[in-house]
Amino acid sequence: MPEDRTEQPHIVTCTAPVNIAVIKYWGKRNEDIILPINSSLSVTLHQDQLKTTTTVATSRSFQEDRIWLNGKEEDITHPRLQSCLREIRRLARKRRNDGDSGVDSASLSHKVHICSVNNFPTAAGLASSAAGFACLVYSLARVFGVEGELSGIARQGSGSACRSMYGGFVQWIMGNKEDGKDSLAQQVEPETHWPELRILVLVASAERKPVGSTSGMQTSVKTSCLLKHRAESVVPGRMVEMTEAIRKKDFAAFAELTMKDSNQFHATCLDTYPPIFYLNHVSQQIISLVHRYNKHYGETRVAYTFDAGPNAVIFTLQQHVPEFVHMVQYFFPPETNGADFIKGLPVNCASLSEELKQGIGLEPMPKGINYIISTKAGPGPRVVEDPTQHLLLSDGFPKKTM
Ligand code: DP6
Repeated sequence: MPEDRTEQPHIVTCTAPVNIAVIKYWGKRNEDIILPINSSLSVTLHQDQLKTTTTVATSRSFQEDRIWLNGKEEDITHPRLQSCLREIRRLARKRRNDGDSGVDSASLSHKVHICSVNNFPTAAGLASSAAGFACLVYSLARVFGVEGELSGIARQGSGSACRSMYGGFVQWIMGNKEDGKDSLAQQVEPETHWPELRILVLVASAERKPVGSTSGMQTSVKTSCLLKHRAESVVPGRMVEMTEAIRKKDFAAFAELTMKDSNQFHATCLDTYPPIFYLNHVSQQIISLVHRYNKHYGETRVAYTFDAGPNAVIFTLQQHVPEFVHMVQYFFPPETNGADFIKGLPVNCASLSEELKQGIGLEPMPKGINYIISTKAGPGPRVVEDPTQHLLLSDGFPKKTM
């Protein structure tokens, strides 16, 4: 029987940010509801540069839940998608039963159509699942009229997604309850707290990662005693120190902890058996470049961090951006030196002194980096009020351009 498309669906569109961890999450104590073995802390990146947009529609005429991701229909029965859908519907039902007038009772029994797009390459180590699940949960909550704490639901889509539910500097407290009720994200400081802080994403490769985080961390938990030591004896202290460094806007302390924590995460990957390698020769060259740059100036001006992929994320202060970007451009000469190399926030011109180039003393590595995204800390998920931005048409199906 053809679907009845005459019923006008209830449509909501939201956007959500990517986050980059400075104290890394790696390892679960519960795979089903995604409970981590350690707390973690991240910076939410600005949505002007990196974001997921999701439209959710509900209608009595929809016959089944359906999802389209980056233009392609995907399997809605994926267990993590199902967890998020189930939890939001459960919360909506609970609120309705508690007499909350904001809950859209009619839509509770309706099926949903979901359409989501990223404005950056998926699975390139740029935390696309974090922004994706945060956006899904935020949009579903809006469409069903659910408010309040949602990070515990986003967490069940992808662990790191719970941190994308807030802007600025965000911690995910591991919690210790078996049901996960205390494993939630919390804002440490808002995005306005440290306006000089800048973030540069150095996209080394837009390829899919060889070992996904989910299976990678599973093997690490089983085989790495370094990971156990890290979770039990290193991260708790680092969470306190990192929070302190952020509160005081102490860049040197923030930068040093960020680099050490990234290095220790990759060390646990190497300690995993069989070992996992996320860093490649370009990543290693960036690490050398950052340390040589800081050494040249006798102070920590720049920090790197790497997730489950070879792309570097650089933290620095606004005043150092032009020189550092031009140094990256000098040591990783791009194929075309056009404006396309630097995307996002504009970067002023800078000249590199011979003394600096010689002080760094590295051999340039052509085409090592595809492009740089220049950004800063940004806000959490948002509702898009403009109906022309919906990814689903008024019949609840994706726009043809998708
Ligand atoms: C290296 O959140 O992608 O980016 O919970 O299995 O979905 P799942 O894993 P995911 O892992 C992210 C790992 C990391 C570090 C971090 O973001 O904290």
